[in-house]
Amino acid sequence: MDSIEQQICSLREELHRFNYEYYVLSQPTISDYNFDQKLRLLHELEAQHPEYYDANSPTLRVGSDLTKNFVQVKHKYPMLSLSNTYSESEVLEFYNRVEKLLGSNDFETVCELKFDGTSISLTYENGVLKQAVTRGDGVQGDDVTSNVRTIRSIPLVLHGEDIPPLFEIRGEILMPWKVFDKLNEERAAQEEQLFANPRNAASGTLKLQDPKVVASRELDSYLYYMMGENLPCGEHCANLEKARSWGFKVSDAMKVCRSLDEVFAYLKYWDVERKNLPVATDGVVLKVNSLEQQEELGYTSKFPRWAIAYKFQAEKEWTKLKEVTYQVGRTGAITPVANLEPVQLSGSVVKRASLYNADAIEALDLHIGDTVSVEKGGEIIPKITEVDLDARPVGAERVFFIQTCPECGTPLVRDQGEAIFYCPNETGCPSQIKGRIEHFLTRKAMNIAAGGETVEHLYNAGLIRNIADLYELKWQEVMRLERWGEKSAKNLTESIEKSKEIAYERVIYALGIRYVGETVATKLAQAFPNIELLSSATTEGLMRVDEIGERIAQSVVSFFANEENCQLVERLKLAGLQFAAVETGISDRTNVLGGKSFVISGVFSLHSRDEYKAMIEQNGGKNVSSISAKTDFVLAGENMGPAKLEKAAKSGIPIIDEKRFLEMLEANNL
Ligand code: IVH
Repeated sequence: MDSIEQQICSLREELHRFNYEYYVLSQPTISDYNFDQKLRLLHELEAQHPEYYDANSPTLRVGSDLTKNFVQVKHKYPMLSLSNTYSESEVLEFYNRVEKLLGSNDFETVCELKFDGTSISLTYENGVLKQAVTRGDGVQGDDVTSNVRTIRSIPLVLHGEDIPPLFEIRGEILMPWKVFDKLNEERAAQEEQLFANPRNAASGTLKLQDPKVVASRELDSYLYYMMGENLPCGEHCANLEKARSWGFKVSDAMKVCRSLDEVFAYLKYWDVERKNLPVATDGVVLKVNSLEQQEELGYTSKFPRWAIAYKFQAEKEWTKLKEVTYQVGRTGAITPVANLEPVQLSGSVVKRASLYNADAIEALDLHIGDTVSVEKGGEIIPKITEVDLDARPVGAERVFFIQTCPECGTPLVRDQGEAIFYCPNETGCPSQIKGRIEHFLTRKAMNIAAGGETVEHLYNAGLIRNIADLYELKWQEVMRLERWGEKSAKNLTESIEKSKEIAYERVIYALGIRYVGETVATKLAQAFPNIELLSSATTEGLMRVDEIGERIAQSVVSFFANEENCQLVERLKLAGLQFAAVETGISDRTNVLGGKSFVISGVFSLHSRDEYKAMIEQNGGKNVSSISAKTDFVLAGENMGPAKLEKAAKSGIPIIDEKRFLEMLEANNL
């Protein structure tokens, strides 16, 4: 092995270990920054030396090749599910059945959490991940290996003793609650259909065609079942402990129970404690520990006789449906909402429940006055799961999805593919107009100090009809409105004036083009550095940009094909908004900052925090996370924490704002 190859190998090994410590053990031993530095170095070395290519390199975790279609693979061992039980007495029955079949009560039961994600079967050959297949129909599933490779807690290469040369390990792919919430927030902002629960989000993500997007969704995993011919131990639990030692994420909640009382105590404990877990669980799985006894017990036609699932009770109540109302979003998407007789459900009063879309209403065959069951299981927004047909009042009116916009009366159109109805009256529907202006003002867009109420006021007073009107507002006019004074009116127009400094990519986001969220807006700004280039881009040209597919590309093209939108952009340009990318020097490496260390704190308006971090690194500076005697500068945005401010001031560390920082880079005047 030459020295470059050696360096590459040892970097790979190190990074695999860091990944494991971070994602499996949750005990990182390296800072994110140093990790990224090492990863970057490995990237560079690999690019210079393609002869040392390794499909399992940590650099390939982000996913690179586009998988167009999934190949169907037959499972070596069918992927069975478990028979469900819902009460202690059913668990007792299971226990008695096992005892009877084995002819003895000399057996151990392993209790595990039942993770509520999507199941996966992983095959490892000589310690290397070879294939990842979904359950499919249990007999054959989809080969999703390239997507699974992006999941950080799944080891690509195993380390340790007694690793069988060939084995399968099964488990659950999960989307942690935090990631799920963030994803749905982003989808709501884009008026895309929300995922009902983390399970759907995880399985939807695993079936995406682009592994890079999968990587960005931060999926997690728990493994719970090892299969193969040369397993290291004769007990299920011991095998999983081995698996843990090789690098798999195996839940710490796994417990060997020697009596039924211990099992019941486990069920009771986790029914409450599971609410503090970062991922969704919907029950407990009980398994006979000894593999020999498992074999003796065998299988029915559908399930193993050596295991059952005990399902936690979903929190559920019956109540009455009063009416269904419809909300019109800024892109015209119509969301149906069930208005209910208030009902107490897991600690809060529920008055409204999501109905998702027209198909959901139809599937439930909803009628006004129906008695419906509201559930708050894995879902954040309560949902209606069932209708009590016996309790339906005579002559109850069936709920049909509206056909015209509740705000402007325009006939609705249905989006192909999705079950979403839209109001097509983009420029005339008050809800959409106000919604777009509101979006334009938000912190992540133009950061103008105003919200929905202000928009409502200004709109009702006839002062604004679109986003360009904002830049023609005079404080004297605003002041004349009821409940406004000189100060508040001036604050508003000053804030609008200040928004002219907002960077190009955020202006693109602010325009509210359907499907163009923050990330897409940044990609567009990079690929089309001014609005002329962007507005004249073709679908094909747009699709050449990383992560931009046909749906987004078409939406951008149709936005700029609309004459009214072009006029708006023209007026905004005249008003002085940023419609071209500013040279930031981000890509030019310099050593202007000469090893100085920076702490970044607060919220910025000209660039994002991450951009500033990149600028510091790429100009020879260092990012540090907390203020110490060794810190050279504090780069402070708005809302910097008072404790940090005080600490910096006390230690005499210069506090600079973003403008001063950018000057530093340009003028080399440290
Ligand atoms: S063992 C033959 N253990 O629940 C037994 N399954 O309804 C294989 N699940 O298909 C499954 N957590 O998708 C097992 N700790 C756990 C589990 C678990 C979740 C899922 C899995 C399985 C389904 C059974």
